[in-house]
Amino acid sequence: MSSIDEIKSRIDIVELVSEAGVKLRKSGRSYTGFCPFHDNKRTPAFVVWPELGTWKCYGACNEGGDIFKFVMKKEGLDFKEALRKLAERAGVTLQELKREAPEVKEAYERLRALLEDALIYYRNQLFNNKEVLTYLREKRGLTDATIETFGLGYAPRGYDNLLPYFAPKGYSQQDLIDVGLLSVRDSNESQSPTANRQLRTYDKFRHRIMIPIRDEQGRMAGFGGRIVDPDDVPKFMNSPDTAIFNKGRILYGLDRARKPIRAADQAVIVEGYLDVIALHQAGYENVVSPMGTALTEDQLRLLKRFTRRIVLALDPDTAGQKAILRGLEAARSAMDREGELSFDPRGLLRNEARLQADLRVAVLPDNLDPDEVVARDRDEWKRIVENAKPIVTHVMETLAAGKDLSDAKVKNEIAAQVIPLIEDLPTPIERDTYRQALARMLRVDESALSAPAAPVPTFRRKPRAPAQSRETSAPQTVAAVNPIFKMEAYCLGVLLRNPALLYRLDRKLQEFGLTPLAAEDFEYTAHQLTFNIIRLAVEQDEKDHQNYVETHLPETLSEISKEALAQVEKASPTDDKLLEELLNRVVDLRRAGAMANINQLRFLQEEEQLQGGANIKTYQRQAIQFTKLLGALDRAKKNLSLKR
Ligand code: CTP
Ligand code: MN
Repeated sequence: MSSIDEIKSRIDIVELVSEAGVKLRKSGRSYTGFCPFHDNKRTPAFVVWPELGTWKCYGACNEGGDIFKFVMKKEGLDFKEALRKLAERAGVTLQELKREAPEVKEAYERLRALLEDALIYYRNQLFNNKEVLTYLREKRGLTDATIETFGLGYAPRGYDNLLPYFAPKGYSQQDLIDVGLLSVRDSNESQSPTANRQLRTYDKFRHRIMIPIRDEQGRMAGFGGRIVDPDDVPKFMNSPDTAIFNKGRILYGLDRARKPIRAADQAVIVEGYLDVIALHQAGYENVVSPMGTALTEDQLRLLKRFTRRIVLALDPDTAGQKAILRGLEAARSAMDREGELSFDPRGLLRNEARLQADLRVAVLPDNLDPDEVVARDRDEWKRIVENAKPIVTHVMETLAAGKDLSDAKVKNEIAAQVIPLIEDLPTPIERDTYRQALARMLRVDESALSAPAAPVPTFRRKPRAPAQSRETSAPQTVAAVNPIFKMEAYCLGVLLRNPALLYRLDRKLQEFGLTPLAAEDFEYTAHQLTFNIIRLAVEQDEKDHQNYVETHLPETLSEISKEALAQVEKASPTDDKLLEELLNRVVDLRRAGAMANINQLRFLQEEEQLQGGANIKTYQRQAIQFTKLLGALDRAKKNLSLKR
């Protein structure tokens, strides 16, 4: 997902517009209010669609767009400025700001080199310690090759081993503090001016098995330390967050797992360092784990660079699993921590939709950890992962386990908890499928499970309020998965690949009595801007088209154009086919827009009637235009399908 998508998915347009002083009222599937861009204060002609993250004024300005366009217009900013502003609001770091300055980079390199040295130190200590080595080999079943591959080591007893070892190598006490290997003693003694010179520090890791943690690029980031003595606490100790180590951003094992994950097009998430290591040793290399915290959205996003199919093989005794059994309401309040994808199915589902991931849950048998499972029976792991279930199915089955499903009360309880989850699913097909599955499981008629009658749904579906709706803070925008966005990206992708097709497209459109493709055909500001550059490219003749696009596309749009190109990766290679596809998509895009506008105008007209009807003519005129357009588009569509 590009940072632009990410920003869009994190910002609630209703909130944004309301904060700008527009009073919005929920009406049907959208929100309406008075347009902030023209001064007619009699008619609420300004409409916001929260799910699409778009807005439109059906009154005097007759303009619309996404959150970026809104901020640009409202505050007189250009796209880049609006992007910066909204990125900050969404807490998204833009690529352009992410790049490390050279001197910072050098400092990081130094810290990483120190950690590599520490790894060697700990490894040597391990091979001098019979007891720990035997534990790893015999109790944990690790081969020497595995110990070597994962760089396992041992931190010896004692508080002052590191400094004497590293000082002669040119590292300072501060360096060791900066990478988290030394802890600073907090002393209550009053600090005399001279006491400042040398801080009182001690080795953080003592008498522990040391597990090096690398980022996804294989660069050293920190260590995890597991106890050797079963009575020591805590059982695991990790490096503190440092300039190069952020627990919420790194997944343990991803440096080794990334290729296998790509190859298998699947990632499995487990809950322990030693589980990752044991599974890799057993030949299951697409496995990673978080480090003692719930999975964060950053981690999911990181993983999504390699696959969108993710299996959560979480210990059956995790708090989240128990919480599911206690009921989803309880789960939510117990587990909804900011930014973390706890095992709350609702949170997982929302993020699944938002990130376009396929999240499944694998249940581990007999209260075993993954490393114990593979130790018992190597093939069993494969079966467990293959049997992973979609979250909704998992929740359904977990809730039903051991219950008397012939009891109407039980049925009612289960349905009440599962239906809101089903309503959260992004597509009608998924919703239908799971509603049917739930009906089958509970042996009730499906109609008994359907939500209360809703207004005629068009594809611009707004998520219906869940049965026992409590306002949650979870974002309801799913802009990144909406079909319009994808269609737009596809059209842009084709044109980026071959800008000259724009001429042929325009000619075809004119043959059907339609207008040439224009920036206004795109709802998303970033798409409009990208299109403008393509248009300019084909209208100039100094450079070849693609070269022109490349040199004129601003940095802020580079991710968007990459994403658009990715949409057409598998598209047909011949220009004729490509043009046909493009034409079809453009017609679909316009039909979708026309239909949505007609529906919305019908709605506005009804509202207007109740208010006295001053504006009804404007709405009628627009509705007629869109209806005519729809007719032309339908004819075009028919023509196109005849040709196929
Ligand atoms: N963890 C952590 N900090 C803790 C506890 C746990 O970082 N205080 C993380 C570690 O990554 C650990 C994982 O959570 O591997 C799972 O913890 P736990 O189930 O307690 O340990 P196991 O992995 O089962 O360890 P072992 O098999 O060695 O007993
Ligand atoms: Mn374990």
